[in-house]
Amino acid sequence: MKIGNQHYQTIWLDESDPSVIKVIDQQKLPFFLEIKELRSVEDVYNAIDRMTVRGAPLIGAAAAFGIYLAALEISVNTNPLSHLHNAARYLVSCRPTAVNLAWAVDFVMQKLNDEMPVEELAEVSRKAAIEICDLEKENCRQIGIHGLPLIEEISRNKKGETVNILTHCNAGWLACIDYGTATAPIYLAHDKGIKVHVWVDETRPRNQGARLTAYELGEHGVPYTIIPDNSGGHLMQHCMVDLVIVGSDRTTKNGDSANKTGTYLKALAAHDNNIPFYSAVPSTSIDFNISDGLKEITIEERDPEEVLKIEGLLHGRIEQVRLCPENARAANFGFDVTPARLITGIITEKGICNAGVDSIKKMFPDKFN
Ligand code: MRU
Repeated sequence: MKIGNQHYQTIWLDESDPSVIKVIDQQKLPFFLEIKELRSVEDVYNAIDRMTVRGAPLIGAAAAFGIYLAALEISVNTNPLSHLHNAARYLVSCRPTAVNLAWAVDFVMQKLNDEMPVEELAEVSRKAAIEICDLEKENCRQIGIHGLPLIEEISRNKKGETVNILTHCNAGWLACIDYGTATAPIYLAHDKGIKVHVWVDETRPRNQGARLTAYELGEHGVPYTIIPDNSGGHLMQHCMVDLVIVGSDRTTKNGDSANKTGTYLKALAAHDNNIPFYSAVPSTSIDFNISDGLKEITIEERDPEEVLKIEGLLHGRIEQVRLCPENARAANFGFDVTPARLITGIITEKGICNAGVDSIKKMFPDKFN
């Protein structure tokens, strides 16, 4: 997608120095557009941990490049494959909820073996990481194509009046490599001249909606309004939302879906108001090994400081301020699980399916043995 007139993706290999991975620093957006260089496994771990890069597909791609950087770090005294396995375990341990992280690391590791000389380990892992980026871009592009008719139909039913779409967190191109998951159909609809408007949940505590979704929609010229996380129910009760589209960090083979905390409450409100609620999910975010989202998905618990403080721009610098009494305690569950029964449909790269095992199996038969 474009920022200003320039096309960006969120992560890429530096052509002039292939030992460097470049990423858009999402800790600085929307205030500053800065590119950060990652040169080691440690750099990649820290970038994922501190949310310089975030969003399910992007942390997978970053970790894949992390294995490549680990291969470049192999020295004469290390056992190459055990060095890479250690790096793989380290990277996967960084954030537990999004399945893309483990999937991407596994995708790269599967291509490596102990017969390969060190140069080949680096070459193969570099190619695998780029393959993941290309795959995720294409997945998102296809999600856009398959999701577009949902918006077109609402627009037709509303006789061309604005289609109001609510989204939570940032499931846009910044969370992916390009296009986004939840935003891909929205960008396509906007580009086709369909009138769309997006209600952007601010998404406390990290404000990915207010900071990132607002930024990227604005750069693309899509009209949006930021709302406090708790306003969605009110808007839905007053027919101000036509459609909800959210992303997913881990969807089970039965269709339960973990996404940024607060998504479940939007699904409940949408259900109560008969508003279609769609999850936009590339197959790389589906965990085909598990069925029960509530029991089997690990929910990341993050630093309570993220709740106790808020970050913004002050006198040209990014600063944090405390919101609560000193010594206040806070809990910070990063994700929640929306049960399949509340999900109208799952928009995948292969098409839209119901949130249920039969429909998901029909869409991805090769993933079921
Ligand atoms: O904690 P984050 O910012 O990594 O959480 C991101 C989300 O919850 C997104 O909605 C999800 O990754 C889907 S991204 C396409």
